[in-house]
Amino acid sequence: MLQRNTLIKEFANFSIFYFNIYMFIVFLKNFIMVKNIAILASGNGSNAENICNFFEKSSDINVVLIGTNNQNAFVINRAKKLKIPHFVFTKDMLNTFTDVQKILSENDVSFVILAGFLLKIPEKMVQMYLGKIINIHPALLPKFGGKGMYGKYVHKAVIESEEKESGITIHFVNNKYDAGEIIFQKKCSVEKKDCAKTLAEKVSALEMACYPKKIADIIKKTEKW
Ligand code: GRF
Repeated sequence: MLQRNTLIKEFANFSIFYFNIYMFIVFLKNFIMVKNIAILASGNGSNAENICNFFEKSSDINVVLIGTNNQNAFVINRAKKLKIPHFVFTKDMLNTFTDVQKILSENDVSFVILAGFLLKIPEKMVQMYLGKIINIHPALLPKFGGKGMYGKYVHKAVIESEEKESGITIHFVNNKYDAGEIIFQKKCSVEKKDCAKTLAEKVSALEMACYPKKIADIIKKTEKW
């Protein structure tokens, strides 16, 4: 009987010990390995919303902020609906980078995701988040990129050039428009019957399917999880 009680006690101690270790690992994972991301967008925000929904249940990647340079951008409505804090800044504020840096630091942001963000990222910010700012472009870079190449202008240019293919490019961001290292591309066909609108729909479907997953892959690879 005595031996049985001792065994039960030992088993209980053993279970408590391993439960504590498990809780400690969960604690470490949450407080050390969790990465916060901020999304910057200038307009509609369909990618921003898709990224937020994708990471909503993630235990290691959190969307903590949505920033915009456009106080009328529809992405603000989406941020409110998703209950994600948003902030508005001017082009000068971005270029000076003092206030924007402060808000990113206060929120412990490790990665910045551009989703239809139209301003150039200043050198200071590129250096501070080297290899940690990611953008998506709605065409196959290096073609159809650069200043003025956004939204319908990209798709119009692709159609006018009679390209057989278009798609998406996910790339790291440097201080030039659409010129950072390419991480991932996915193609779609451009048919004779396509117009800028139908091509935009095909490209948007690729963006929705690929961008959040690739963001997760890049963060995990960078952080060596
Ligand atoms: C997307 O096509 C994206 O590739 C580009 O800007 C567009 C943004 O659309 N960078 P939305 O604001 O996410 O709807």
